[in-house]
Amino acid sequence: MSDILTKLAYQTFHQSKSYFSFAHKSLSEQIRNLFYPSLLQKPPLLPQELIPKVQARFNQLLETDWRDAEIGIYPTSLLFDNPWEDFLRYYPMVLLDLPMIWERVKQNKNQEFGADIERDSYPSYYVQNFHHQTNGYLSDLSANLYDLQVELLFGGVADAMRRRILAPLKQKLGFFSDLPQKQIKILDVACGTGGTLKLIRASLPQVSLYGLDLSPHYLRKANELLSQIPGELPQLLQGNAEELPFVNDYFHAVTSVFLFHELPASVRQTVIDECFRVTKPGGVFIICDSMQLIDSPELEPVMNSFIENFHEPYYRHYITDNLVERLEKAGFDNIEEQVHFFSKYLIARKPV
Ligand SMILES: C[S@@+](CC[C@H](N)C(=O)[O-])C[C@H]1O[C@@H](n2cnc3c(N)ncnc32)[C@H](O)[C@@H]1O
Repeated sequence: MSDILTKLAYQTFHQSKSYFSFAHKSLSEQIRNLFYPSLLQKPPLLPQELIPKVQARFNQLLETDWRDAEIGIYPTSLLFDNPWEDFLRYYPMVLLDLPMIWERVKQNKNQEFGADIERDSYPSYYVQNFHHQTNGYLSDLSANLYDLQVELLFGGVADAMRRRILAPLKQKLGFFSDLPQKQIKILDVACGTGGTLKLIRASLPQVSLYGLDLSPHYLRKANELLSQIPGELPQLLQGNAEELPFVNDYFHAVTSVFLFHELPASVRQTVIDECFRVTKPGGVFIICDSMQLIDSPELEPVMNSFIENFHEPYYRHYITDNLVERLEKAGFDNIEEQVHFFSKYLIARKPV
């Protein structure tokens, strides 16, 4: 009985988050249409006729999320985890940031940064206002707003999508079952504000965690989040995923969430090669990123409208890129693929 009630509470919780993000989108669209009518022509992010399909995928994601908690991949409490304090504090700022975003869209400015923002030490492909974000990934404000913006974009299920890496991660780490958990090392590449590391910590409390990202601002936010949770603090490093600052064969597992669609094609390959280099033989590399045309052709209009509505300069190529071929080229084998809601997952093994 209590399980049924908890499941109902879980579904209600996520439906409410989805209604909230829907209300937010409608409100911001109405304000935008009032002040920026010229931006009206953009196609809606979710065309009307696709709503039933997307709703079915959403429900399926919640089912899988619930099931994985039920079978012990992670604690049920994780399903209700939400940074309420941050959300309440930063939601007004998300709203206040909208006019600046619309102004950039209107003027077609995609590489606009405050005068105080240091940009020279970053690769040029990175110095962008991805999704029209103010200051790209290069300010504390951007880091504070990021998680809330992603939640609003994905209807409140961003973490449910991230959690889909946990079942294959735990399963593939079975290869090292003779090792004590404390000796297992996992790297999250492009860890951002630390959301994925937090989920891995809840699922595998004893392992040693590492996170790497180019943005010092996002790492600062990650440190804030991760230092609040019990267990050893993950080691956070600022660095470029194209040159991972680790010796060969160091990690039992490497993960990367929502990175590859923001990389130019050649950089995608370099990063995969680097992930291969630092993974131990027998170890696993797991990618979670946007769905692609090959696995979700029926949602092509959603992918196209993402290109139209957001500044994602590498996404058009990404959705047709052959990631399996790239993983094989790097040396990975036994590649498995999954799709959940708007994301796809590639689970690849480094041969022994
Ligand atoms: C869309 S965010 C995803 C963040 C996080 N993984 C998540 O699940 O929310 C992309 C992240 O990739 C980082 N990034 C982009 N290019 C990078 C690179 N070459 N090396 C390291 N980090 C990079 C950005 O700073 C940003 O934090």
